[in-house]
Amino acid sequence: MTSQTLREARKYEEASEKMIKKENRPAFHLSARTGWLNDPNGFSYYQGQYHMFYQYHPYNSYWGPMHWGHAVSSDLLHWTYLPAALAPDDVHDRDGCFSGSAIELPDGRQLLMYTGVLKMPHENGGVTELQTQCLAIGDGLDYEKYPQNPVLDAKDLPEGSSRQDFRDPKIWRKADGSYRCIVGSRPADGSGQILLFASQDALHWEFEKILISNRDRFGKMWECPDFFELDGRWVLLTSPQDMLPKGFEYHNGNGTLCLIGDFDEETDTFTEKQDQAIDYGIDFYAPQTVLAPDGRRIMIGWMQNWDTCSLRMPEQPWYGQMSIPRELSIKNGRLFQQPIRELENMRQNKVVHENVSFSGIIRLEGVKGRRADLELVIRPADGEHIYQKFAVRFAQDKEYQTSISFRPYESIVKIDRKFSGSRKAIIHQRRCLVNSKNGQIKLRLILDRFSAEIFINDGEQVMTATMYTDQTADGISFLADGSVNMDVVKYDLV
Ligand code: FRU
Repeated sequence: MTSQTLREARKYEEASEKMIKKENRPAFHLSARTGWLNDPNGFSYYQGQYHMFYQYHPYNSYWGPMHWGHAVSSDLLHWTYLPAALAPDDVHDRDGCFSGSAIELPDGRQLLMYTGVLKMPHENGGVTELQTQCLAIGDGLDYEKYPQNPVLDAKDLPEGSSRQDFRDPKIWRKADGSYRCIVGSRPADGSGQILLFASQDALHWEFEKILISNRDRFGKMWECPDFFELDGRWVLLTSPQDMLPKGFEYHNGNGTLCLIGDFDEETDTFTEKQDQAIDYGIDFYAPQTVLAPDGRRIMIGWMQNWDTCSLRMPEQPWYGQMSIPRELSIKNGRLFQQPIRELENMRQNKVVHENVSFSGIIRLEGVKGRRADLELVIRPADGEHIYQKFAVRFAQDKEYQTSISFRPYESIVKIDRKFSGSRKAIIHQRRCLVNSKNGQIKLRLILDRFSAEIFINDGEQVMTATMYTDQTADGISFLADGSVNMDVVKYDLV
């Protein structure tokens, strides 16, 4: 039975979506059907399609009582909106259906596991927020909340853990048919931990152990964990709040963290070996992955960050986009990301410029646009003298530009959207330390109207940023301080 709250949301979104012109949205990045979107939720492959749910406030373009929006796709680039899947309409989630995940049950139904939020007012005017883990079961379109919700609450927490910061369950099924889920939590020391729970039927859950403790190393509370096997290793992805910078690896505020290690499936023990950021740009948070039918591990993140939400188009009734889906792999102990190969089907109007040697500023025939896939190989034109700086400027007109620059002597790539038209005093630049030898670097830029994702050295690092520069600013130019030799391959993404 659909509740009145959900029916209203569905009616509202259907009418309101029609008011948004296609060209005022990203072309192939999933954006809110209407209103506000944050984290990807329930990213799954179910009944022959990819399903993406998302944190959703349909009624305006700001965060509010969380619903789950819903969209499906067969290639992760062309999305069809479905009616909202969940609304905050139950005693345990009256104040929000927060992030969570999805899985197919053996009987063919789809199970959603999410965080129910309930605000408990105090007599003195204060409020305590309770977060519990809840279930909803459905057919890919309509979902019934499980009558025995919540399935995990304060009594399932280890001693000293917060009842307010207990959220974002990620569920998976083990080879033996039993289930596990991990949930972000805040222990007594105030930083983060990831809790592991076990179940035989995906309905009745028990606390098993603390999978991993932050111990104040990477920010504070860890949100939106994901955990999976990849290329023989195990990977924990999470998004820590309140981070401190560590060199060029982590930055202040909300960030992303990838821990690579080994996992003993007999004892459910994770041994962490390496750590790194997931994305080195400005706007990327709370990613979630899916295992594709062909075995690829694909990740999508919220292409936004809580710290930079004030950069927006005020006149648009939608806010929030997902990143491009990224294929993950591990090479030399590091997480690599590549735009999904399905993107190649959207490539048109190939333009090639090989061995272009230049210094100063140049433009190249056929190289412009705001929906583009641009591959660059950069090297010094003069082997004896490495150039000082290379930059590619895009979303450019006389007034505006966003840029990626590379300084070989420092091995630093910088993304800079300071001149993208933003009127906000927020972060507009970020730097990243990259691997490069003798002034050589490979860059791949994916542009989609309001965003740029830069894959450095075949996906060894990625920098993501949104920019809301007017679409008429579609120029691309190249700058070299010193002499650079480059190959350019450019496609329109149509
Ligand atoms: C992360 C997050 C989650 C929470 C959701 C609420 O971006 O804070 O921890 O479930 O957003 O919308």
